Amino acid sequence: MLRQTAIEERDHRRKSTRRMIVAEQTKITALDNGPYLVKGPMVVDAEGNWFPAEWQTIALWCCGGSTTKPFCDGTHSKVGFRAAERAVREEEG
Ligand code: FES
Repeated sequence: MLRQTAIEERDHRRKSTRRMIVAEQTKITALDNGPYLVKGPMVVDAEGNWFPAEWQTIALWCCGGSTTKPFCDGTHSKVGFRAAERAVREEEG
């Protein structure tokens, strides 16, 4: 499901207004040594359970210590979780 937003753009040369529908997509932000922040319409866990997120930002666990999987409960801070090195983009050419 994509969220849609209407945008109006004024064309001054033609003296008209163009109305466009723009689809918003899910955004995932990987934090250093912490959870993945997800902003989108919903989350589906490994068992196929759907959790409506309704475009609020939610935190998904990544450290293996959360007691509320698939969500982060802050355990990563308590145990001093350190993520592996960042993936390195392969050189082109
Ligand atoms: S990432 Fe927060 S509890 Fe694991």
